[in-house]
Amino acid sequence: MSNQTSYDRANELKAFDERKTGVKGLLDETKEETHIPNMFVRPVEDRSKDFPTCPDNITIPVIDLAHVNDDNKAEIVKEMLSASSTWGFFQVVNHGIPMEVLDNMIQGTRLFHEQDDEVKKQYYNRDNSKAVSYNTNYDLYKSKAANWRDTLSLSTFLSLGSLEPQELPSICRETILEYLNHTLKLGDLILELLSIGLGLKPNHLSNLRDSQAWTFVCHYYPACPEPELTLGTSKHTDSSFITLLLQDHIGGLQVLHDNQWVNVKPRPGALIINIGDMLQIISNDMLKSVNHRVIAQTVGPRVSIALFLRSLFKSPKKYGPIKELLSEENQPIYKDFTTEEFFTYFFSRPVDQSGLDYFKL
Ligand code: OGA
Ligand code: NI
Repeated sequence: MSNQTSYDRANELKAFDERKTGVKGLLDETKEETHIPNMFVRPVEDRSKDFPTCPDNITIPVIDLAHVNDDNKAEIVKEMLSASSTWGFFQVVNHGIPMEVLDNMIQGTRLFHEQDDEVKKQYYNRDNSKAVSYNTNYDLYKSKAANWRDTLSLSTFLSLGSLEPQELPSICRETILEYLNHTLKLGDLILELLSIGLGLKPNHLSNLRDSQAWTFVCHYYPACPEPELTLGTSKHTDSSFITLLLQDHIGGLQVLHDNQWVNVKPRPGALIINIGDMLQIISNDMLKSVNHRVIAQTVGPRVSIALFLRSLFKSPKKYGPIKELLSEENQPIYKDFTTEEFFTYFFSRPVDQSGLDYFKL
């Protein structure tokens, strides 16, 4: 029986993948459908042992970056360190990125996913060596249940400078370049504030990273006829130093806090920042990389855009707990490793398993 099931699943996945039109394509063709295909259905045991969702009066911290460069810096640093060491997540407002740039990025993502299938198909691939790819679930053939989501990904982390602007889909090229220009600067500011908060030199974390190594994903979550059976994005932590996330007005992102799912309510103009595994390790657990997920919903499409600031896949640097943070009372929890070891492990393990334990001493 189980062989039969896995055989069917393999075929279903392959047929779906070969259409190259994603979840959106599936929905376009089956407008009247009220059931989702089996490949998206989470195993009953997963659904039944889910954490509860907590009431909406609990929210992740909001940090106001206005006047960060004058008298407010010390206070902002304190708030950010506290949010990063408890929640691992916070929203920033008054970050200086014009509303128009954010709105255009959400609109640009929609335009990419809603353009003609034939144009979109040219970008469909699962080739990790490509700087630009569009597909459904990078782990489609590994996960127990597929996520109700399509994604356009851009990445420079395999080799710096590998992404030429003309490789970007023309429908959102300018939008992406402008958004990246702003968010990469904001990312450096956040790393500076976190460095100061940890008692390091302001450029310590930025210097540790291979600057300009990032992965950028533009997610499209179509409305789902049976949202309780699947997820938009399964529970996971990010492999990054930090992630900068923009979500539209629909909502659906949840952060795990005290064994409860906390909704991250959409806040116009805000960006969500979270700590990734790499920063938890090098801060020797002072900053927390926290599990999060996106629920599927009957409303949609929902659009979100994540920028992962990371190091190169094959960085010449070695990583481990930052020496300046260690002391007699604060012994290293993790061993030193190369980024190749780190990412190879990160991408081979099941997504819902911690990427951290493997690197513990
Ligand atoms: C991610 C992620 C959340 C979202 O891409 O790692 O957590 O809201 N995305 O799409
Ligand atoms: Ni994530």
